[in-house]
Amino acid sequence: MSGRVVGSELIEDARQRGRIVFEILPGDIVTDVAREMAQRVGIKLVDGPLEKPQTIASDGNTAMRRGLYRRGAKWVAPARNIRPSARRFSKIALIGAGGVGGNIAHLAAMADMADEITLIDIAPGLAAATALDLNHASGITGAKARCIGSENLSMVSGADIVVVTAGRARSPGMTRADLIQSNTRVVHAAAAAIRSGAPDAIVIVVTNPLDEMTVEMLRATEFPRERVLGMAGTLDSSRFRNALALAAGVQPADVQAITLGSHGEEMAPITSLARIKGRPLEVFLSVKQIAACAKDAVTGGGQVVALKKSGSATIAPAHSTIELMDHIRGARLGPVPVSVMLAGEYGISGVVLGVPAHLGQSGMVSVEQLRLTDDELKSLRSAADAIRQRLGMTP
Ligand code: 2OP
Repeated sequence: MSGRVVGSELIEDARQRGRIVFEILPGDIVTDVAREMAQRVGIKLVDGPLEKPQTIASDGNTAMRRGLYRRGAKWVAPARNIRPSARRFSKIALIGAGGVGGNIAHLAAMADMADEITLIDIAPGLAAATALDLNHASGITGAKARCIGSENLSMVSGADIVVVTAGRARSPGMTRADLIQSNTRVVHAAAAAIRSGAPDAIVIVVTNPLDEMTVEMLRATEFPRERVLGMAGTLDSSRFRNALALAAGVQPADVQAITLGSHGEEMAPITSLARIKGRPLEVFLSVKQIAACAKDAVTGGGQVVALKKSGSATIAPAHSTIELMDHIRGARLGPVPVSVMLAGEYGISGVVLGVPAHLGQSGMVSVEQLRLTDDELKSLRSAADAIRQRLGMTP
């Protein structure tokens, strides 16, 4: 079989199309320049032929729907503007100044979200160093927030929003649930400081296992459910959208999709309501491809852990926390996936679970009740049962 000469122009073409993999077919000759360029731009050269995506199964109804959609108006992705009337926090306190906490501080400073950003970490000097580093950048960025670092939990004092990222992260092969024992202690210590120093704060829990640690934060602070939120759904939904966009060859902004349920094995990517360019997923993807995207969302955090060997994802979790803070301060409107204590919504009570909810300056305003399929509802209920079981709660 005579092959192609794969030069840098083909790699550049793949880069422009947003590809992360380039298929080398038998007989292809790859130039050294192309190899070097692929490595530089992060495109993996893989030996092909790769398994082709399954042909989309088509019946009469599907064919007709596709025909109708093809004649539809041109798709324009919705803009994601920050509302100019967004409030600023007076003080954000971040308990945990590792990768996630540090990135949250950076993004919050760049978005001019607060007058003061306080980072707290027991690792000697870490929070103070990150705060100093952020302040040093302000001569270039013009960020107005003053960053302060401390090893002392009492520095949460007076915060109107507290984000808890402290705790052990997973190592390869661990599930998030394996962290329950060690991280419960961390969350209880944080809760005691928040309860006495920032009794009116809204708390966002990021420490894993997320849903269980949000329950522990609620128990230990005795705050109302409106003021204790868990960050997971925004992250898992972003991973799901990324997977769908890659599979369909569209931009992430063209995809609307959410995941609900637990931030773990019982995550529930909601395919029935997901849309690509405003259309159901089946218009673009086969059933097998959709299932692979859902799996990618569920395993996304683990994929990062496996690659890093030590520690877990930092950038996407930080952006996802900022997304919740943007909803709280009114910079974004509409429901957002967030872990909250349920009180009968979706037929579930007494357990924290990822659901779509409206947020505002006092925290959670209301849970949005979406029309889910029976299977999706079943997944939510199984997730609730699994979390209860892990926490030793009676159903
Ligand atoms: C993740 O999914 C850290 O749980 C977090 O990446």
